[in-house]
Amino acid sequence: MHFHTFSLFQYLLDPKSSMKKNKVKYRRLGIVGCGAIGSLVARLLEKKKSSFRVTVLFDTFISTSKSLANNLKSKPKVCRNLKDIFRHCDIVLEAASVRAALQVAEASLQKRKPLVMMSTGGFLLNQKRLTDLAEKYRTKIYLPSGALCGLDGLKAARQIGKIRSLRITSTKPPRGFEGAPGLTPAQRLSLYKSRSPFCLYTGDVWGAIKRFPANVNVAATTALAAGKPGKLKVRVMADPKAKLNQHEIRVVGDFGELTAITRNRPSKQNPKTSALAIQSALALFERLENYVEVGN
Ligand SMILES: NC(=O)c1ccc[n+]([C@@H]2O[C@H](COP(=O)([O-])OP(=O)(O)OC[C@H]3O[C@@H](n4cnc5c(N)ncnc54)[C@H](O)[C@@H]3O)[C@@H](O)[C@H]2O)c1
Repeated sequence: MHFHTFSLFQYLLDPKSSMKKNKVKYRRLGIVGCGAIGSLVARLLEKKKSSFRVTVLFDTFISTSKSLANNLKSKPKVCRNLKDIFRHCDIVLEAASVRAALQVAEASLQKRKPLVMMSTGGFLLNQKRLTDLAEKYRTKIYLPSGALCGLDGLKAARQIGKIRSLRITSTKPPRGFEGAPGLTPAQRLSLYKSRSPFCLYTGDVWGAIKRFPANVNVAATTALAAGKPGKLKVRVMADPKAKLNQHEIRVVGDFGELTAITRNRPSKQNPKTSALAIQSALALFERLENYVEVGN
């Protein structure tokens, strides 16, 4: 009663600001990983005047988190340890790596902090453990669509009837694969020498994540959206003539057929990452702060 009276009073004073204040449940955002995604999401949330405020940062390289903090008006706290961030935030954005994802997710869930996970491959590799923890602590994990379009259709398609075949082909310029742990010596050489497109991987999604962890989060997200990760066939291609990162998903099932092709500009800071992945995280935060949601 007290609260309502106060809210009404606030609303009468300044309807817009009071509505904004009541808009979202979680407002203090902690970011783990201040690279291409973490840094741009932080800067753009500030520019958009989002209800989310970046209050704490953590990166294994303290100079990276410090330099981002210096560029933000909200002057977030810079932590030296992952466990220190949770006192300063209500929700966490993981934008670190597939390798780091499990540790970040476990710690967030145990502290009952909802988590937006960009390294969806890290989720898939630990799906059972993280789903159990999310249920145990009644805390949500959000996996954004990232660099990909078409997941809304896939999620609807699997509701009734069978998905008969599911494929994703990801094609990037060769420099997008530099440093990938799964490259054979011959493939590494081809990245610099080949003039025509060549295949780096065909197989299941788990093998794709292990060999190309920084490139195939889209495949992990597709597999998860389909509900049956084992159904997905993944193809990874390098194309010396490509300027954009392309992802094509093809779904055939009782619902009909779906083909979605996304051609993304690589992020300037990290060519493995598409600019759309960064925007997808922003779109997710927008969804979390609005009362009306559009699309699945
Ligand atoms: N879901 C998608 O569609 C999608 C698209 C692109 C990238 N990604 C994934 O998102 C993640 C971030 O991508 P990015 O382009 O910003 O990468 P990036 O390499 O530009 O930045 C990652 C940052 O995380 C830091 N980091 C690494 N391990 C850490 C740890 N254990 N704790 C704290 N900080 C750590 C690094 O120092 C770096 O500053 C990657 O895993 C990437 O593969 C997902």
